[in-house]
Amino acid sequence: MKTATAKIVLVTGGSRGIGKSIALNAAQRGIDVILTYNSNSDQGKAVADTINRSGGKAIALQLDTSKTSSFNDFSDQIAQVLKQEWNREDFDYLVNNAGISQRTLIKDTTEEQFDELVDVNFKGVFFLTQKLIPLIVDGGQVINISSGLARFAFPGVAVYGALKSAIEGLTRYFAKEYAGRKIRVNSVAPGAIDTEFGGGKGDGSHREQIAGMTALGRLGVADDVGMFVASLLSEDSRFVNAQRIEISGGMFI
Ligand SMILES: NC(=O)c1ccc[n+]([C@@H]2O[C@H](COP(=O)([O-])OP(=O)(O)OC[C@H]3O[C@@H](n4cnc5c(N)ncnc54)[C@H](OP(=O)(O)O)[C@@H]3O)[C@@H](O)[C@H]2O)c1
Repeated sequence: MKTATAKIVLVTGGSRGIGKSIALNAAQRGIDVILTYNSNSDQGKAVADTINRSGGKAIALQLDTSKTSSFNDFSDQIAQVLKQEWNREDFDYLVNNAGISQRTLIKDTTEEQFDELVDVNFKGVFFLTQKLIPLIVDGGQVINISSGLARFAFPGVAVYGALKSAIEGLTRYFAKEYAGRKIRVNSVAPGAIDTEFGGGKGDGSHREQIAGMTALGRLGVADDVGMFVASLLSEDSRFVNAQRIEISGGMFI
């Protein structure tokens, strides 16, 4: 059992892509990690193993953020893990990173696709945070991963982009309602990041197009976001609250 005073972050969707980078970069900064995966248990456990092997502390748990009915049990599981592994009753930071996208024009979008996007990208974030926030320390922090698509529009991602706008609104409301406990709530909006998200960023010409829209002239990589989010998980950002921070290398400026 580790009883040192390391901070603890819970990262949803920490098995791959941006969430994995957030988990690894947080661990590098001395923060202990609880990460979740949905279906890729091997990858989730591999991220935790990497952290544990390099002297940090991490645990990987299964969570489908679209299944709100499982959140009471998940919250109980977190309380149990905190007690067992850290001898604590609370944790410090929650990063709502898990997300999905679907490419469909508005005219072709079905109600089923719409609901699936809402369940993971909005409803799940709301209710998971509602259930877990009693376990976050006063003065802790919640970070919601949004998207550049909340600021600019592309055809084919209307519902996804609108839901990320909703997440940014929700961020301010959580900041307002939990101000009494000094919990800071911010959203981080990645631009186009080279992960497997939505089937990846495609071929050379699409990548060049994205680079051409970006002031820094390239597609982002997961560490561009992971390093930044990990840097927010400290007292260095203690007066940053209810903000949207975009990590896009300057897309569409
Ligand atoms: N990549 C981009 O260009 C980009 C741009 C802007 C914003 N974002 C946002 O950044 C976040 C992470 O994206 P990414 O690029 O890292 O995506 P990714 O590589 O596809 O990884 C997605 C992660 O979310 C998890 N996940 C998917 N569905 C889930 C569900 N129903 N319940 C719980 N976990 C689930 C996955 O778990 P499994 O491994 O188990 O499937 C995985 O760990 C998302 O919120 C996304 O909207 C991404």
